[in-house]
Amino acid sequence: DWNAGNVVAEQVDKIRAQVGDARVICGLSGGVDSSVAAALVQKAVGSQLTCVFVDHGLLRSGEAEQVEKDFVAATGVQLKVVDARERFLHALAGHTDPETKRKIIGREFIRVFEQAAREVVAEAGEGEEVKFLVQGTLYPDVVESGGGEGAANIKSHHNVGGLPDDLQFDLVEPLRTLFKDEVRAVGLELGVPEGIVWRQPFPGPGLGIRIIGEVTAERLDILRAADVIAREELTRAGLDRDIWQCPVVLLADVRSVGVQGDGRTYGHPVVLRPVSSEDAMTADWTRLPYDVLATISTRITNEVPEVNRVVLDVTSKPPGTIEWE
Ligand code: XMP
Repeated sequence: DWNAGNVVAEQVDKIRAQVGDARVICGLSGGVDSSVAAALVQKAVGSQLTCVFVDHGLLRSGEAEQVEKDFVAATGVQLKVVDARERFLHALAGHTDPETKRKIIGREFIRVFEQAAREVVAEAGEGEEVKFLVQGTLYPDVVESGGGEGAANIKSHHNVGGLPDDLQFDLVEPLRTLFKDEVRAVGLELGVPEGIVWRQPFPGPGLGIRIIGEVTAERLDILRAADVIAREELTRAGLDRDIWQCPVVLLADVRSVGVQGDGRTYGHPVVLRPVSSEDAMTADWTRLPYDVLATISTRITNEVPEVNRVVLDVTSKPPGTIEWE
């Protein structure tokens, strides 16, 4: 019988056997997979592990704190946080093409992560080399990339965490035999915070691909403010586990006329994109209750001054993708 406690015990033994007393590094994204993988390795080899969290400034409200405080408190991992927010904003300035934005974010991520990895090596002191890199690869990822040992190479286009070949690490992949629901059970067994264990999918490039147009600090603040309201209301309505994810998208280059109080407004629309899906390959738009939609709309337009219109995306995938970029 499948049991999370047994999986933890087995994987802890395997990890100890694989890494011995070498140093291990893990990139944390705030997502379920990297968090649970890190928690397992932490349980197995504790202080030999250093996690690196690159704050690229494209996360949603509260997510950086969730990693920096809650995850550390729950697991006791050593965490190196790199504040790269300015760097990403600078690199993204002036760019509007979705693929270009993705490439820039991926490239900057790798540079920052490599630098952090070198610092971890340096700080580890004499003779201590980081030999192992933890990856939250799941069974479906292994199958998707063709199975077998060579398939360990990191999901390239869909993970900002994709690392170049010349980073010479051996991979530690404790989730390789598990499905998502099993990873969640293992995470709960290890005491990973529920907000992380139950987190819906979130793209590596983050809010950078949910601002249609150029990414700026101000636009990120607007989108974060709208997004957190939508998430709060969906949670309050008990809908988190019914929907696959609900991107909130800022149409930053579009303005429309509105009226508020005595005045005319000329603000931006945000799009709600609630979807139901099994695997993100296909999706349908979720028929959210009207009263939940009404509350989200009222709160966003009242509480986020730059947004004066909330629209609902009623397109399935295909032909639409889940994200707008
Ligand atoms: P689309 O928009 O292609 O999204 O229907 C399918 C799923 O993948 C996520 N997504 C990404 N995840 N890097 C990621 O790590 C990306 O560049 C990326 N683009 C889309 C999306 O949130 C959805 O769950």
